[in-house]
Amino acid sequence: METANINTLSRRNLLKTAAITVASSTALLTACKPQNSEKASPASSPKQDAPVAVEENRYDCFGSHQAGITTPHQLFGNLTTFDLTITDKNRLIDYFRILTARIEFLTQGGEIKDTDPRLPPEASGLLGKNLPSDGLTITVSVGDSLFDNRFGLSDKKPLRLKEMKRFPNDKLNADWCDGDISIQFCAHSPETCQNALRDIIKNTAKFAVPRWSLDGWLPKAEPGAMAARNLFGYRDGSGNPDISDDKVANEVLWTGVAANSLDEPAWAKNGSYQAVRLIRQFVEFWDRTPLQEQNTIFGREKYSGAPLGQKHESDTPNYTGNCESDKGNCDGNSIPLDSHMRLGNPRNAGWERHRIFRRPFNYSLGLAKNKQLDVGLLMIIYQANLDDGFIFVQNAMNGEPLEEYIQPFGGGYFFTLPGFQKGEFLGQGMFDI
Ligand code: HEM
Repeated sequence: METANINTLSRRNLLKTAAITVASSTALLTACKPQNSEKASPASSPKQDAPVAVEENRYDCFGSHQAGITTPHQLFGNLTTFDLTITDKNRLIDYFRILTARIEFLTQGGEIKDTDPRLPPEASGLLGKNLPSDGLTITVSVGDSLFDNRFGLSDKKPLRLKEMKRFPNDKLNADWCDGDISIQFCAHSPETCQNALRDIIKNTAKFAVPRWSLDGWLPKAEPGAMAARNLFGYRDGSGNPDISDDKVANEVLWTGVAANSLDEPAWAKNGSYQAVRLIRQFVEFWDRTPLQEQNTIFGREKYSGAPLGQKHESDTPNYTGNCESDKGNCDGNSIPLDSHMRLGNPRNAGWERHRIFRRPFNYSLGLAKNKQLDVGLLMIIYQANLDDGFIFVQNAMNGEPLEEYIQPFGGGYFFTLPGFQKGEFLGQGMFDI
């Protein structure tokens, strides 16, 4: 999907499309073009990753890229991975066809049609009889395990797709790692994500079972802010590349398009690598840490989000100083060499190829066994080249002062499938159909 748009249609077209929706005998047959509303497009928000709160809108699900990456960051998300229970290539094709049809219906919205009361209802009912689109995007990615010997797809594997290995500060729990399929749901309300997840679990139950699932959310946008705050109270995403600019998106996101990914298989063009990291944050400990130390750890000022020594969130950080926080030689106005953001992007020559696009959510799982809050970051990172992107950046950050306050425990590497056009299905290129 190039960009996610809210399209405005004439009232006639709106009614016409609605009529088609109602007339369809099953929910699978709906179109998925945006059709409603003259409300302001979230694409006009100050920065692509700044969260938007919009009551009702629809994102196009057809295009060269899937929706949910360059789409303005919705406030709610869920990421669920699935293990396939089938072993046959034709069944896998059926799975992707059904998944695609559900995505078309769910992201479009429409009337739920229960055809026979002796059968289970079409939908969960959580959203009533008329399913709103509610800014829903559903983004499907595949794991390294899809390309094992089950489906005869091993020669189709994207070159950099692999199993996630632990980094020094990780404490990976297999129950929260990997999966054959990753599905990211994002919407303007948590119930829309839940409804879509339940719909897909139900409609693909003969093919796949969930492996792990995590709900995420963001705080409401602050006026003028470029990014939402994470649970440490810092704006997270300010330094993201501006992927609302197609040129930047082509350089950073899309495989087979970005200069460092031209060697990928042809079918994978316009996909992206998705690195997912589930990172617990020790917030009680953080809340007892002096403000100056917090600022130094990130390299930004807590409230304004400005790089230390600057005024505005959008200001370019000044990386001329060479102080190191553990030597105590930083004055609170200079950005330490070992600060999170300077390690993550020192902005020096040659770093262009290591740019990544972060699209995270906060999560909460209540209390841990020790009665401390079990909360953190559902980090989702997109890039055209996984080795140059997340893996390189994480290696650069290993040992950073932030590690004392965080604990990665899960996630995985996935390849986000290229987008699809009407009449096609997700992943079609893998099957030479
Ligand atoms: C709980 C874990 C994390 C927290 C709380 C966190 C928070 C932040 C904050 C507050 C910033 C500064 C604002 C911004 O530019 O967005 C930042 C920047 C950044 N983070 Fe993280 N982050 C976390 C994990 C990660 C991970 C796992 C990666 C990837 C390996 C990462 C990569 C980056 C990068 C590349 C930057 C931007 C540097 C720039 O371009 O200026 N972060 N992070």
